[in-house]
Amino acid sequence: MNELDVILRGGTVVTAADTTRCDVGISGGKIVALGESLGGAKEVVDVTGKLVLPGGIDSHVHVSQPSGPGIRMADDFESGTRSAAFGGNTMMLPFAMQQKGQSLREVVKAYHEQAKDKCYVDVSFHLIVTDPTESVLGQELPALVEDGYTSFKVFMTYEGMALSDLEMLNVMAVARETGALVMIHAENYDAIRFLTDRLERAGKTAPQYHATSRPIPVEREATHRAISLAELVDVPIVIVHVSNGEAMEEIRRAQQKGLKVYGETCPQYLVLTEKDLEGLNMEGARLVCSPPPRDTASQQACWQGLQQNVFSLFSSDHCPFRYDDPEGKLTPKGRTSFRWVPNGIPGVETRLPILFSEGVKKGRISLNEFVALTATNHAKMYGLYPQKGTIAVGSDADIAIWDPDREVTISQKLLHHGSDYTPYEAIAVTGWPVSTMVRGHFVVRDGELATKDKSGRYVSRAKSSLAVPRNH
Ligand code: URP
Ligand code: ZN
Ligand code: ZN
Repeated sequence: MNELDVILRGGTVVTAADTTRCDVGISGGKIVALGESLGGAKEVVDVTGKLVLPGGIDSHVHVSQPSGPGIRMADDFESGTRSAAFGGNTMMLPFAMQQKGQSLREVVKAYHEQAKDKCYVDVSFHLIVTDPTESVLGQELPALVEDGYTSFKVFMTYEGMALSDLEMLNVMAVARETGALVMIHAENYDAIRFLTDRLERAGKTAPQYHATSRPIPVEREATHRAISLAELVDVPIVIVHVSNGEAMEEIRRAQQKGLKVYGETCPQYLVLTEKDLEGLNMEGARLVCSPPPRDTASQQACWQGLQQNVFSLFSSDHCPFRYDDPEGKLTPKGRTSFRWVPNGIPGVETRLPILFSEGVKKGRISLNEFVALTATNHAKMYGLYPQKGTIAVGSDADIAIWDPDREVTISQKLLHHGSDYTPYEAIAVTGWPVSTMVRGHFVVRDGELATKDKSGRYVSRAKSSLAVPRNH
């Protein structure tokens, strides 16, 4: 065998299926050998005592997304992908979001321009469809799916973005025809508007009432409706950022019926609750996201969803704003109701440590399940497998080198995102990414940024290997 570029020696290689003590040989950015006593290499990296994991794939991330007048997201592609790399991720999938009246193709083009030469890890885009006009449905979407944009998100809530049931059905029908996957933000828009108006009239405007304005039935009903619409069209869907047991049970029931309905949950639904917003006054805006964190019973249900394969994806829903910033969480000035607080929290860097610590270390999930939930299933769901999401000969050498025993107290000062806070401040975790390698090159090495090159690439995707309609 020719001399390898790199050998990772002495670690424990973990995939979604196996845990094996072996070395990893890397050449030309690919994994080319797994075994003992691999030949020579330009560089041998001692990873004794470490876990060698497929790099995390965070398939639900927002960066540089338009967020309303006067509001700016805290991360662009540069800071977002740097933060992702420090969190043990080798790929992330942000959303190219259409705004009303825009051409989806133009949106995608503009997003590529923003990402060009800015990424530390590989990226691929989902689309967000907010204006499903005839030309979007008839021409743009089908052409974009053919070009490798094989998943799109639709919203059942948010001003200017919510689709009607008819629009959802039309988008689903295009997905069915083209083999794409629809990701659904399931909350009942009218119910939220009704509750928001009532809360405001009662003077309940502090950020903590954000959670009160979108309680569990709002999410459960929309989840049920989304599943019903998908059943009518016979199209696979992913219900994203599921926060509670009632929505989870809707997904489980659909799965038991044989429907291709997948679920995703996120760290905020495992370690935060609605109570965390209480007493913070405007500072509660830091935790405003949708759906909101719920209660401890909902946390338990989300764990069950992960343990019982109702959820196949664990993503961050990284959607970062700054708090103490005129373009951040409290904008526009003078509008003090929770209604105006931009929704979303940062989390791309803390997703893996939180799941490892709370899941693997506390015996809730196995190491192999951790890999499946954070990397492999994302690659399979979104048409990237086996190029991404596993450690196998022929796959990209996208690797997180993980210290399973490192004890860290999460703190803003350790993180690399553009936000000025983390919702997970002071949470103690065990297990931390030491180094992150993208296609055979260290981006982070021993906790330091290892390169100035922003050589993350855009990866065009195949259709989902999991989500094939039932009657195909
Ligand atoms: O509050 C959230 N989740 N913001 C991000 C946008 C979305 O709905 O995923
Ligand atoms: Zn959403
Ligand atoms: Zn999101």
